[in-house]
Amino acid sequence: MEKIQEITKGKAKSLFTTSSDDQLIMHFSDDTSAFDGKKMEALMGKGSVNNQFNAFILEHLQKNGVDTHLIEVLSKTDSLVYKLDMFPIECVIRNRASGSICRRLGTEDGLILNDPLFEFFYKDDDLGDPLINDEHIISFGWATKDQIDEMKLLTYKINTILTELFINSGLILVDFKVEFGVYKGKILLADEFTPDGCRLWDSETLKKMDKDRFRQGLGDVVESYHQVADRLGMNIILD
Ligand code: ADP
Ligand code: TMP
Ligand code: ASP
Repeated sequence: MEKIQEITKGKAKSLFTTSSDDQLIMHFSDDTSAFDGKKMEALMGKGSVNNQFNAFILEHLQKNGVDTHLIEVLSKTDSLVYKLDMFPIECVIRNRASGSICRRLGTEDGLILNDPLFEFFYKDDDLGDPLINDEHIISFGWATKDQIDEMKLLTYKINTILTELFINSGLILVDFKVEFGVYKGKILLADEFTPDGCRLWDSETLKKMDKDRFRQGLGDVVESYHQVADRLGMNIILD
């Protein structure tokens, strides 16, 4: 399958049309963004590790009953996916407090939450991806009540599956963000699951192994993504 025309250029990925109306090529670039695009840098090899990382995780989720948009990996940086009608919403689950919730509620970094905490964010960089609730989604018509319930159920399911996967490799899944869309009437997991969109800490030392290394200027960003991939037994093809 060949790329025909770029239809979306996001902060870290681009989408291209293909000869099939309902399939897109998702290209993972080296561009790395934080704080809704306020901090941007190209990190060599990040697109490649993220594309392959994403495929490993989405295939694992698929095997465990979560349907995803992934069709196949085409190259080190590109994957073929179904074209979805995306919800303009981000679904976040937090197992520990870190990042924006600490700023919002004055919580200490790393506090273990009694229960996994689900949050919705509205996808709008100019507004800084504001926190929203079910009522906003229904009032603005971004999704129906049934779709909200299904997205929540799927996000909790993803949390259960991946918490186990990561802990078996000595990693704590602190939190993550996922996005969903509709394909032929069915809700599928879309976008990506990579260390760009989650927090992963070493379970012994609590060392940060995810995009917080970029956000906080800790260095060794791509190297850490490779270390996570190695621990999970992924066979990443290098650039
Ligand atoms: P951002 O939108 O935050 O800049 P990216 O650089 O990751 O993020 O851009 C990828 C875009 O592609 C996102 O807007 C995402 O919602 C969208 N997207 C992801 N998967 C699909 C899909 N299967 N079909 C259509 N759009 C998708
Ligand atoms: P936050 O602490 O900034 O709200 O982020 C929670 C988790 O969701 C964290 O792992 C990063 C991820 N996330 C994104 O990947 N993109 C986003 O736009 C947002 C708001 C969060
Ligand atoms: N995902 C957002 C961005 O790319 C927010 C963040 O990661 O800090 O800018």
